[in-house]
Amino acid sequence: MSHDDFPTENPAVVTCGLPYANGDLHIGHLRTYVSGDAYARALETLGQDTAFVSGSDMHGTPVAVNATKAGVSPEEFALDHHEKYEETFPKFDVDFDNYGHTHDETNTELTTDIVRTLDEKGYVYEKEIQVAYDPEDDQWLPDRYVEGTCPYCGEKARGDECDEGCGRHLEPGEIEEPVSTISGNPAEYRERTHKFFRVSEFADYLTDFLDRLEGTSNAKNQPREWIESGLQDWCITRDMDWGIDYPGDEEGETPSDLVLYVWVDAPIEYISSTKQYSERVGPDVFDWAEPWRDGEGELIHVIGRDIIQHHTIFWPSMLRGAGYNEPRAVMASGFVNLDGDAFSTSRNRAVWADDYLDEDLAPDLVRYYLTTTGGFQHDVDFSWEKFQDRVNGELVGTLGNFVYRSLLFAARNYDGAPDAETSAEVESRIEAAVDDFAAAINDYSLKEAGDAAVALAGFGNEYIQRNEPWHLTDDDPDRAEQVIYDCVQIAKAVAVLSAPILSEKAQTLWEQLGEDGSVHDATLDACLESPPGEFGEPDELFEKIEDDRVAELNEKLEERVAAATEATEDDADESDESEENESMTDDTDIEPIADERISFEEFQDLDVRVGRIESAEGIEGADDLARLEVDIGVETRQIVAGIKQLHDLDALPGTKVVVVANLEKAELFGVESNGMVLAAGEDADLLTTHGDSEPGTKVR
Ligand code: MSP
Ligand code: ZN
Repeated sequence: MSHDDFPTENPAVVTCGLPYANGDLHIGHLRTYVSGDAYARALETLGQDTAFVSGSDMHGTPVAVNATKAGVSPEEFALDHHEKYEETFPKFDVDFDNYGHTHDETNTELTTDIVRTLDEKGYVYEKEIQVAYDPEDDQWLPDRYVEGTCPYCGEKARGDECDEGCGRHLEPGEIEEPVSTISGNPAEYRERTHKFFRVSEFADYLTDFLDRLEGTSNAKNQPREWIESGLQDWCITRDMDWGIDYPGDEEGETPSDLVLYVWVDAPIEYISSTKQYSERVGPDVFDWAEPWRDGEGELIHVIGRDIIQHHTIFWPSMLRGAGYNEPRAVMASGFVNLDGDAFSTSRNRAVWADDYLDEDLAPDLVRYYLTTTGGFQHDVDFSWEKFQDRVNGELVGTLGNFVYRSLLFAARNYDGAPDAETSAEVESRIEAAVDDFAAAINDYSLKEAGDAAVALAGFGNEYIQRNEPWHLTDDDPDRAEQVIYDCVQIAKAVAVLSAPILSEKAQTLWEQLGEDGSVHDATLDACLESPPGEFGEPDELFEKIEDDRVAELNEKLEERVAAATEATEDDADESDESEENESMTDDTDIEPIADERISFEEFQDLDVRVGRIESAEGIEGADDLARLEVDIGVETRQIVAGIKQLHDLDALPGTKVVVVANLEKAELFGVESNGMVLAAGEDADLLTTHGDSEPGTKVR
């Protein structure tokens, strides 16, 4: 079965992986929330009725352990963080329709109800298992209360997850050489009776479900391997006080002394949060039950790649077992790293959401960076230089530049949009951008959606440059009016198409155009509706980030990372051998190899050729970019490369290079780039040939 394209007749729910209410938010977390927000907004731009929900993950050992360390009750600790998150998200324009938490009444009731249903339907059974126990402190050690060695890959792991090794979810009793994370005491295993959910019974269902599942390929493919290697039933209870009690039966039998594993009640918050939204706006506006249970809906989960298994194996099995609808898509992003290593909250090795806000950088800049840097499912190494490149290149240089020069010209010469109609050329270019945007969202690609908007602005720049309206105002005033009207129309379309990502700047642009209301209420049709006639001179939307600003930001970040690395090394001094080995591998500068393999066919899609540089010159106004003419045998190509500062351009002609010849054309600083010259690392060390292959020779 394949799904209908968006927009469908059904209500959609976009959810974001719940943040554990146990620490500060960093921009790694924001990749989930900003992407969820942008995707939900984009669906609405397509005309899809959409609810966007999430909530704080209050339970579980990630919260309890940190609360113990902070010396407060888990409830107080979690609520504090929950309130902090509620304040932080709007500062990044992450605009949930409902943001609840897992400890509230709605979620407690619904979780109890769903678990009871699973139990009644025979999907839950009891089993004796070995659970880690600290005999000295007389305490059970569930999940993150215990650390040890992963039985699958031998890496250091947490009780419930091999977080630094193979990434597997670990069941109680699996971790080897267990040690208490609270007291440091070696733990022993003791027998306990726990409840198990029969995930293994859902193997066939899950195989079919994965055929239907949409979203990113990592979320569709990785779970197949887990199913093939055999699904284990899942222990859904823990020896703890903090959590939702395992339900007693309806006759009021006293509940057992076990609480539910946090991963049972956490995803149920997706439903509970939608329910609270319905309760607030009324079911005639949005009826939670329709997408989740009683009708049809489009359920889309936006998460990071570390929790794919929970969302593609456990969660769909729970939904299926309890009689709820299945997700339509899982969008799993790659991680945001620093120098190739994951952010670490406990080691203060991260770019914090609060620090970003303190720097007074517009939220839209990081929204753009997080949603469009690299492929969504690839890890990105955060760097202020790359951030600066994206901002100065696409936002300042292309989008901001186009709308500013167009609206300024229109305001100065015509007090707004001149009296004309959109030309056929511009109409069809806008239609193409609208189609690209819709296709991107149907393909779950925020990057392509962002590209559609920026490329349209790039076209606008080229259009205004080509038609030179400043020369036409006297000679051919009608033609000048036509060109500027076209540009205003393009600017309006750019506002609509960029709004999901550039939530604040697109609204500013909307107002600069003299439009009423919110750009976020506009749908794709608005791209070709005529703009209002009058508006004044605009301000520039984006400010260039200067090099000395980047140097300053880098200095602060480097200090922080150095302090964190020192702390890691100090820890390693006290630790055992395996940890030392680990910090050795941590220290390398080399980026890890991508997790995902590509097929030979995919590789063959690349048309890579030997080329010879004919000429090289800097592009005016761009700090890093050079315009190259490269002979690739069949023809000579104009290629833009970010090498201006890194190479002596005069010495380049005659140099042989390696060129990706079938890359999509791009426009950088108004210059078309028709291919890509390959270069290694931050210094853009140009790849060349060892022998004497002629330009045009295919590289394979
Ligand atoms: N509480 C669970 C999710 C429960 S969903 C029913 C959890 N919490 S978390 O606080 O660790 O992560 C919250 C979200 O941020 C998740 O989607 C997670 O994948 C994402 N990320 C956390 N760190 C990240 C990076 N460094 N980079 C990208 N995403 C990251 O997991
Ligand atoms: Zn492992």
